[in-house]
Amino acid sequence: MQDAGLVLTLNADSEVVRYTHDRMRDIVHAEEVLDKVILPQYKSYGVGRWAVYLKSSSEFTGWCGLKYIAERNEYDLGYRYLSAYWGKGYATEAAMACLQFGFEIRKLERIVGRAMPENVASLRVLEKCGMHYIGTETVDGHLANTYEKWNPGLQK
Ligand SMILES: CC(C)(COP(=O)(O)OP(=O)(O)OC[C@H]1O[C@@H](n2cnc3c(N)ncnc32)[C@H](O)[C@@H]1OP(=O)(O)O)[C@@H](O)C(=O)NCCC(=O)NCCS
Repeated sequence: MQDAGLVLTLNADSEVVRYTHDRMRDIVHAEEVLDKVILPQYKSYGVGRWAVYLKSSSEFTGWCGLKYIAERNEYDLGYRYLSAYWGKGYATEAAMACLQFGFEIRKLERIVGRAMPENVASLRVLEKCGMHYIGTETVDGHLANTYEKWNPGLQK
């Protein structure tokens, strides 16, 4: 819960939420999201959106990680970073580590990733992680390109 300030800083940036549409009102809102959305994933499903820090300086850059979507019975890869840290390969590096965690540690069969067709940087990250485009669908009222990756270790 001490990370509420970091979550607020991230989601208060209009560039960061341009394609995610989940701007935050205030610190109470950030605490609510941590309490009801982010932290339950750690406890219930052994996955979660994790804070990402630079090893060299311990600066907070954003978050990345898996989320179980019960309605779809899917594990979703997601990420977002403060704009000062974009374009340095951090999103791809952390996303690949999260896929590795999902497949090797959690032994998940399949992981999906979604981004709006206009969110070129995010689509590129999914591609660079070796995920494959499977179609475009409407999710929460917005078009999303969906990508998937199957666990290479579980393939027959
Ligand atoms: C999407 C996001 C996580 C990417 O982070 P990042 O650290 O810049 O990603 P990386 O540096 O690992 O890779 C970005 C890739 O996209 C490319 N890219 C970025 N903007 C682009 C654009 N406008 N057009 C084409 N390619 C673009 C980069 O060149 C790079 O590809 P390359 O390595 O082949 O050159 C970051 O922009 C972000 O946090 N956005 C706001 C939140 C968000 O939209 N999250 C995703 C929701 S689905």
